[in-house]
Amino acid sequence: MSNFHSSSEESSSVLQIWGKTPLSGHVNISGAKNAALVVIAGALLCSQDCRIRNVPLLADVTRMGELLSALGVKFQQHGDVLDIDATHISHSKAPYELVSQLRASFFVIGPLLARLGVARVPLPGGCSIGARPVDLHVRGLQAMGANVQIDHGIVHAYVTGANKRLKGAKIYLDYPSVGATETLMMAATLAEGETTIENAAQEPEVADLANFCRAMGAKIRGAGTNTIVISGVPSLHTTDYSIIPDRIEAGTFLMAGAITRSEITLSPIIPDHLTAILSKMQEIGIRTVMESPNRMRILPKQRYRSTDIETLPYPGFPTDVQAPFMSLLTLAEGDSVISETVFENRLGHVPELNRMGADIRVKGNHAIVRGVPMLSGAPVVGTDLRASAALVVAALAAEGKTTLQGLQHLDRGYEHLELKLQKLGAKLQRVQEDTTTEPIPISVDSPISST
Ligand code: UD1
Repeated sequence: MSNFHSSSEESSSVLQIWGKTPLSGHVNISGAKNAALVVIAGALLCSQDCRIRNVPLLADVTRMGELLSALGVKFQQHGDVLDIDATHISHSKAPYELVSQLRASFFVIGPLLARLGVARVPLPGGCSIGARPVDLHVRGLQAMGANVQIDHGIVHAYVTGANKRLKGAKIYLDYPSVGATETLMMAATLAEGETTIENAAQEPEVADLANFCRAMGAKIRGAGTNTIVISGVPSLHTTDYSIIPDRIEAGTFLMAGAITRSEITLSPIIPDHLTAILSKMQEIGIRTVMESPNRMRILPKQRYRSTDIETLPYPGFPTDVQAPFMSLLTLAEGDSVISETVFENRLGHVPELNRMGADIRVKGNHAIVRGVPMLSGAPVVGTDLRASAALVVAALAAEGKTTLQGLQHLDRGYEHLELKLQKLGAKLQRVQEDTTTEPIPISVDSPISST
């Protein structure tokens, strides 16, 4: 069973979704993409081999593996288990072709600098959701004694001195950036002395990275709060570590259940990671119950109220669930205002939802969603990962057929999305662009055809 499709298939394939089919049953939530990507980079800190479990099978994980291989590191993937042996890192330069395809690959700068005293990593550049600079990463590394030059789009960071080790520092982040917190925490694990990161990101994925580093012998306190203290150690040792469940994937399936008024169950999940999402769901009239410590059942209703949402750093409402939640609110009674404060360009799904019959107006970073009685299927294009997920959620509730283009985004971030939805009873299939056939029933035990 593969989640992967060649790039030519990606560009010519579309997802056809026939909406208004109720969902039922259970969905397994995969390991968290954002935790897995940074933990893979974190494995570079270890001068022995590491095993990482519960890794989602995603195009982004494969790319991260290619990057590690390009650095001379042994990287093997067996299902959801990765074996990474970074005993020897033979290159300190990350290839542009890989970094430009995957922003998360910039994470290797911290571990490379900590292990080798030098790193050359191309600037990742912006992406469709915003400019996404790396100034906070760079300033923090400089505070730890790194010299950083940016020439011809390459960040060249190096440490001088006999032992080429970074030095502990007190760092205040102007904004609680997830990536900057992770880069600096990784760099600090092997630095000389103590590093304090204030106004640190508190996302569960930051805490997961800290737990992984601690399992390798790092000394980290306070991860998951806004102040993280790291006492540097000379080296880290082997570990066997399992990634946390993906709270964003769980949030997306909660939206799929809610919008189709379906009582589905999800596991494994960590309910504390979903507090902001569950609170907004409750506000509009959707209850959930825990059937066991990590298994949740959604109890939807026929009608939902509107609400206002502002995306914020954790524990605020996650920007990554903003788009799928907006799909749900298109069918609520009344007006909702959704304010995106984390990224400057993350409302790309709005025109596409409007093409499906939604009534949404954008003013600056606010989307005013006027609830409508129904959505109708239409040809739509996913502009980024979560925008694509939002369109799938909307399509599940829409009258008729939606054809979604831009599947390379979904393949980056959702493991076996089609298969998981099919198991819940949704009618959808991936086809070459001009195919106009009705859906072919697919056995839940058989792999999804990529064509
Ligand atoms: C991570 C997640 C992404 C999620 C985001 C916010 C990964 C691989 N991706 O992205 O899914 O949407 O957190 O929860 O984990 N910023 C700066 N300067 C910097 C760094 C960031 O200005 O040096 C800005 C960004 O442009 C953005 C905001 O800070 O506007 C938040 O970015 P950040 O928290 O760093 O997100 P990422 O780590 O890129």
